[in-house]
Amino acid sequence: MSCTVVVGTQWGDEGKGKIVDLLAERADVVARYQGGNNAGHTLVLGDETYKLRLVPSGVLWPGTLCVLGAGVVLDPEVLIEELDGLEERGLDLSGIRISGNAHLIMPWHKIIDADSELMLGRLQIGTTRRGIGPTYADKASRVGIRVQDLLDEKILRQKIQTALSVKNVLLRKIYHQRPLDKDVLTEQTLRYAERIRPFIADTSLIVNRALDDGQTVLCEGAQATLLDLDHGTYPFVTSSNPIAGGACVGLGIGPTRITAVLGVAKAYLTRVGAGGFPSEADEEGSARIREHGGEYGTVTGRERRCGWLDLVGLRFAARINGLTQLAVTKLDVLSIFDRIPVCVGYRLPDGTELDEFPAHQSDFHHAQPVYEELEGWNTDISGVRTFDALPAAARGYLEFIEQQVGVPVAIVGTGQRRDQIITVHEVLRAA
Ligand code: GDP
Ligand code: IMO
Ligand code: MG
Repeated sequence: MSCTVVVGTQWGDEGKGKIVDLLAERADVVARYQGGNNAGHTLVLGDETYKLRLVPSGVLWPGTLCVLGAGVVLDPEVLIEELDGLEERGLDLSGIRISGNAHLIMPWHKIIDADSELMLGRLQIGTTRRGIGPTYADKASRVGIRVQDLLDEKILRQKIQTALSVKNVLLRKIYHQRPLDKDVLTEQTLRYAERIRPFIADTSLIVNRALDDGQTVLCEGAQATLLDLDHGTYPFVTSSNPIAGGACVGLGIGPTRITAVLGVAKAYLTRVGAGGFPSEADEEGSARIREHGGEYGTVTGRERRCGWLDLVGLRFAARINGLTQLAVTKLDVLSIFDRIPVCVGYRLPDGTELDEFPAHQSDFHHAQPVYEELEGWNTDISGVRTFDALPAAARGYLEFIEQQVGVPVAIVGTGQRRDQIITVHEVLRAA
């Protein structure tokens, strides 16, 4: 039995999807534990590219159970579009299981997300505008609509009516939008229900039984540590718990079940949306990384802000998640730089230097990066498949990370494709 959580250690888009896909070859179950279609994971197999938003990144391996747990928020329209798209490409969807406790993103959530961002003006978070925050807010307020409500027309109709009696006032009076029609919306949701119903299952039972039977489970996190609602760079975060602990809550498994936590870190750093970013590169450096690394959002197409690896943030991720191993992705992207700055500490305005992530938001916002410059390798490494075949400077870069963070590097990404990878230690066997 092994239960490995794969978690983003930065601000998302570390290449979690590719790592989960890679490990899924040897997994029986891949279970997504939080987030919604704010996530976008790009998987590349030869000439084929898949862009996943909700469906777990194990779906390319036939026979793998792909679970969407209770902690996920699900836009039925987007899910169906994704399922149809995958089916058209010949993928088998019979392994997909969706928790009845997952919450539905409804049209009002998307309107409220977009309009509240507009109202915030300069102070906006830069959300993906997919209705994520308002859906989790309604879940916490206990007025959400859940996947299991799709199983009963009477309950669904009643819940939509009750929700709209409040939301339509909000839409009209605060957001100056037209109210939504409860009958039209109910009929539309019932059509979605037809398609989604066969996938609904008791996913906590499924995952726990798989573990009881000695199977291999991968828990897939979307977003990442610094976007965590409780531990990230609030308020510039998402509205769920991507950190490893979120896997237990989001899937309904006990903490004693987790056997390993694999943190995924890009060899540099990106951020989409607003918020502090101490090691953000200057315009020229950022543009070079963006062009070479293809740093544009999978979901929104937005330019990602780019910068240098932040070891203060990575140490924090090791602590918050209890990382047992690291996957360092996109090392190939750094091949164009002669020298590579790495942020090893933060300097505060009073001159204090920190090597741990600041607990107070003002310290974080005023933090200046303390860089150490490492030697570049200036060689294409996209064909390298073993650690020893990497140039010495690239090996040095990885060893520097291990030594600074205190977590061994198990996997190294050297390109977009599934086969462009170096396995330093077997992750699933180690678990
Ligand atoms: P995720 O949200 O964490 O799954 O990451 P995204 O898919 O949003 O963004 C990562 C991007 O980098 C995708 O386009 C991946 O195909 C790509 N990628 C992943 N690993 C590597 C790597 O090692 N090298 C290169 N060049 N690209 C990679
Ligand atoms: P994956 O899973 C990168 C960011 C948004 C915004 C903030 C809040 O692909 O790594 P939200 O729509 O969640 O309310 O937006 O979080 N964000 C992501 N950034 N990758 C993601 O997902 C993200 N999901 C949300 O840009 O700053
Ligand atoms: Mg992404």
